[in-house]
Amino acid sequence: MQEPQIFCKLWRMSKWFYITTAIDYVNGQPHLGHAYEKIITDVIARSQRSLGNEVFYLTGTDEHGQKVQQAATAEGKSPQQYCDELAVIWKNFTKKLNLSNDDFIRTTEERHKKIVSAFLQKLYDEGHFYKATYRGYYSTKEETFLTEKDRRPDGTFDPAYGNVVELEEENYYFKLSIHQKWLTEYIELHTDFIYPDYRRNEVLGFLRNNALEDLCITRPVNRLNWGIPLPFDKNYVTYVWFDALSNYITCPANYGDPVVTWAAGVECLLDSPLELWPADVHIIGKDIIKFHSVYWPIMLKAMGLPLPRQILVHGWWQKDYQKMSKSTGNVVDPIAVIDEWGCDAFRYYVVRELDIGPDGNWTDSGFTSRYNAELANGLGNLVNRTLSMLKRYRNGVVPDRSSDLEKDVSEFVNKIKDQLKGYKLQDGLISIWEIITRANQYIDHTTPFKIAKDPAQAQRLDQILYSLVETCRILGVLLYPFLPDTACAIFKQLNLEQKPDKFKLSNWGGMDTGHKVGEPSPLFPRRETK
Ligand code: ME8
Ligand code: MG
Repeated sequence: MQEPQIFCKLWRMSKWFYITTAIDYVNGQPHLGHAYEKIITDVIARSQRSLGNEVFYLTGTDEHGQKVQQAATAEGKSPQQYCDELAVIWKNFTKKLNLSNDDFIRTTEERHKKIVSAFLQKLYDEGHFYKATYRGYYSTKEETFLTEKDRRPDGTFDPAYGNVVELEEENYYFKLSIHQKWLTEYIELHTDFIYPDYRRNEVLGFLRNNALEDLCITRPVNRLNWGIPLPFDKNYVTYVWFDALSNYITCPANYGDPVVTWAAGVECLLDSPLELWPADVHIIGKDIIKFHSVYWPIMLKAMGLPLPRQILVHGWWQKDYQKMSKSTGNVVDPIAVIDEWGCDAFRYYVVRELDIGPDGNWTDSGFTSRYNAELANGLGNLVNRTLSMLKRYRNGVVPDRSSDLEKDVSEFVNKIKDQLKGYKLQDGLISIWEIITRANQYIDHTTPFKIAKDPAQAQRLDQILYSLVETCRILGVLLYPFLPDTACAIFKQLNLEQKPDKFKLSNWGGMDTGHKVGEPSPLFPRRETK
């Protein structure tokens, strides 16, 4: 009787699938772009779990730096108090989106700061930093020194940089330039490292045509004190991006990840450490690609850590073909949409509308029409018609197994499996809806509602009803990563006790003859357009 336990322990002692999102700045409210990124990450995390992997999904908040300090001061609060209040909003947001994240990291937490400190000390001891004086033009808004290249033809800086001031400062620099050659070669060789290809080419173009400048990794405390102090010089705090990127390893370190704790030189006190690093995929937006595909790999290499397997770069959302902006009121408030339409309707629209890569555009009319056509009339109608007919004609009892739709559905199931493995989420939804369309057409062609009136065709009716109810069951399994509540609701209406959270349940024939289904109720009530 010992064996299963031993097996379980050995099996757990292997690398988990580790997936992360960008951590959001807390100096604002969650918007559509944040919601999209966290949802696509959630769909991948849930599908990996469904496919049988151990998964760790990390998200969180980026709380240090000048912007946060200024926002706190503007509200008359201490930065910590300000962050604590906002962290509540951001954590609630993960619940609102029904994310399955395994942890939520805040960069102001002790567990994060102590590991960042350990790595800073290590890099300093090993000679990766030097101190130098720099004089230049500084953008407070972007928290960065600007160069001559950032000037516009008329000599001024783009208003996007906000107030630009001339500054002279002594700081610590990270020797980036010596890493340019191997990084370029690495990205050339590892064609999947940055996805999609056009983003990879963008990074390669940058690396081939520009000499990497060393990175300033500190801010003097007299200018900014809302940051992690340098362990070797109390007159400085760490540059916010060094701090923020490190979240991807400070969290694993706290779960005793052997690779990270070893590199950080910290003791692992846990009985069953998790093997998380290297991350399987970092999900980020297109604006922060340089930080993730240039600075971050170099930081990791210097720390003695392996690089993440992949950086998946998504595009940006606009509304009505315009940049979303609070000042013009042109925004989509994800919380308001979810309150009105439900979480799954929101999750469906963003994943179905925008593939991972290009930019996307939100329109209210597009949302309503997808809701009515695809959710209410497509999926909702199929499940409702199937259950209602089974109730009416067979008292809700599942007839003998049949295989009318088996071949079609099974082909799609295989295709969807590959799409999930390849993070092709939009394609996955398109395939699922091909099953739905096919099943709705099957009802129209086989006309069970007519056949039901002819006792001589009872067997034919059984075949049709089984094929439909089994298709609904499989749809529950396939939909689970995308629309978890809806998938569970389908299982509940089918009166199934399991959760639809294992992909292998999508094999044809899982519905037992004689099983009695539950009550149908509309999954997505039809709505009138406002
Ligand atoms: O950049 N559409 O935080 P952030 C799609 N703290 N995605 C969007 C978007 C839009 N309109 N607007 C923003 C930061 N995003 C840093 C990250 S990671 C170590 C530190 C995405 O709150 C953006 O591309 O400004 C990024 O991936 C995420 O939202 C957080 O942006
Ligand atoms: Mg941003």
